[in-house]
Amino acid sequence: MRRIHSLIAMVLMCSLFLFIYYSSLSQPQAQFHRPLTGVSANTISAGHSDFVKNGEKYSIKNDGKMDVLTHVPGSIPGVPQEGFALSASFRESIPQNPAYWNRLLHFQLKQMDNKQSPAGPEGRNWSNCENSAEQLRTNIHDFSQYPELHKIFIRGMDCRDPPILIDQPEKCRSNGGKTFLLFAIKSTPRNFEQRQTVRETWGREAVYSGWVKVRTVFLLGTTTQDDPNLSRLLAFEGRLYGDLLQWNFQDSFFNLTLKEHAFYRWALARCPNVSFIFKGDDDVFANTKAILAYLQSLEPDKASKLYLGQALISASPLRDSKSKYYIPESFYEGGYPAYTGGGGYLFSGSLIGQLYGVTVLLPFFPIDDVYTGMCFSALGIVPEKHDGFQTFDIREQDRANVCVHRNLLLVHKRSPREIMQLWRDIKNPLLLC
Ligand SMILES: *[C@@H]1O[C@H](CO)[C@@H](O)[C@H](O)[C@H]1NC(C)=O
Ligand SMILES: *[C@@H]1O[C@H](CO)[C@@H](O)[C@H](O)[C@H]1NC(C)=O
Ligand SMILES: *[C@@H]1O[C@H](CO)[C@@H](O)[C@H](O)[C@H]1NC(C)=O
Ligand SMILES: *[C@@H]1O[C@H](CO)[C@@H](O)[C@H](O)[C@H]1NC(C)=O
Repeated sequence: MRRIHSLIAMVLMCSLFLFIYYSSLSQPQAQFHRPLTGVSANTISAGHSDFVKNGEKYSIKNDGKMDVLTHVPGSIPGVPQEGFALSASFRESIPQNPAYWNRLLHFQLKQMDNKQSPAGPEGRNWSNCENSAEQLRTNIHDFSQYPELHKIFIRGMDCRDPPILIDQPEKCRSNGGKTFLLFAIKSTPRNFEQRQTVRETWGREAVYSGWVKVRTVFLLGTTTQDDPNLSRLLAFEGRLYGDLLQWNFQDSFFNLTLKEHAFYRWALARCPNVSFIFKGDDDVFANTKAILAYLQSLEPDKASKLYLGQALISASPLRDSKSKYYIPESFYEGGYPAYTGGGGYLFSGSLIGQLYGVTVLLPFFPIDDVYTGMCFSALGIVPEKHDGFQTFDIREQDRANVCVHRNLLLVHKRSPREIMQLWRDIKNPLLLC
C-alpha cells in the first residue's frame, strides 16, 4: 500500500515538473512566432533552404551531419561566397536550460535543423528593432530587477547593421599589393589623444620590409545627447587621417558586440583579402615588429585558422550585480567557450566571412570578447594561447623594463605617454637586450 502511495506521489511530482518545464519553454516560442515581415524562406529540397535577411541572401544546406550556412554572393557587392559548418562541440557546450540566451540560441539551432530561416532580428530594420519591455518581462522572470544597462542591452539586442557615418572604402585597396595586417582598434569618439598615440607608434600605417603592408582603422560609435557633439571634429579627423570608421549607434561597453558585428560586415565588404586582423583597444601597447615576425613565421594551415591571444579557457559568468561583467542567471547559464582577452588578439582575415555569417545566427551577448569566443567556437576554432599577450598587464616591477616589453606582443594598459616612451625605447639601436 505504502509503495503505491509513493508511486502515485512520484508520478504527480514528475507531471508537475514536466508541466513547469514545458510552460517555461513555450513562452519564447510564442514570441518567436511573430510575423516575419520582409523575410522569404523557400524550401528547395529536403536538405537545402534559402532565406533573405536584411536584403542579403543566405542558404542552409545539410550534408547529413551538419548544417552549413552560406552567404550567397552578390548580396553585399564584392563579397565572396562563404559557407561554414556549425561545430557540433559548440552546440554541446551551450547547455539547454531556461536561461533566456540559451533558449534563444537553441531555438535558432532548431530552426536551422528544420531548414527554416533563423528567427530573431530579420524583418526588423534599424529604426524598428527594439524588443518591448513587456515581452521581455514575460520571457525573463526577473527582468524588472536587471540593472538599467542590461535592460537597455536586451531591449536592443536584435538591432543590427547600423548605418555607417564615416567610411574608408579604399582602406585595403589603395596602391596595389594586398594588406598583410589590419589593425582594427576599438576607440570612442572622445579618445583623440589615444588614437594619435597609436598612429604615431605601433599603429602607424606602413609597408615593412618592402612588402608587408599594415593598415589601421579605429572603430567608433557616436556620443550621446548629453555629451558635447564631436561629430564635426571626427569628420575632420577622418578626412585628415583616413582611418576612422563610425557607425550610428551609441558608443558604450554593452554596444561593443554590435561594434564587432558592424566591423565584420565592413571588413567583408572592404578588406576581404587581408591576411590578418589585430583587434584591440586604443590603450594598449602592441609590439608591431614582433607581431609581424610571428605572423610571417606561421605555417599556411595555421595561418588560415588563427585565433591567438591571451586565452581564457574555462571562464564562467560573474554573478555579482555590481561587476562590469555581471551576467544574471536568468540571462545566461553555463560556462563560456574559451576566448581571448579583448584588449588585443589576432585572427586570420580569411575567417571574416564566416565570422560575419555566425553573427547572423548567434544572439548578441553583452560582453564582446566572450561573444567573439562564441563565434570562433561555433566555427570549431579554439583560441591559441600566446604568453606574449598580457591583457591583464605584467608584474609591477617589470612595467618600466623595456627589455621585457621587447619580447611581448601586447600589454594592456598603458597611457599615451607610456606608449610613446616604450615605442621610442624599443626602437633604440643601442638597447642592450
Ligand atoms: C523600417 O521600419 C519603419 C517602421 O516600421 C518603416 O517605416 C520603414 O519603411 C522601414 N524601412 C525599411 C528600409 O524597411
Ligand atoms: C551633432 O552635429 C551634427 C552636425 O554638426 C548633427 O548632424 C548631429 O545631429 C548632432 N548630433 C547630436 C547628437 O546632436
Ligand atoms: C546601443 O546603441 C543604440 C543605438 O544608438 C542605443 O539605442 C542603445 O541604448 C545602446 N545600447 C547600450 C547598451 O548602450
Ligand atoms: C580580393 O581578391 C580577389 C581575388 O584575388 C579580387 O578579385 C578582388 O578584387 C579583391 N578585392 C579587394 C577589395 O581587393
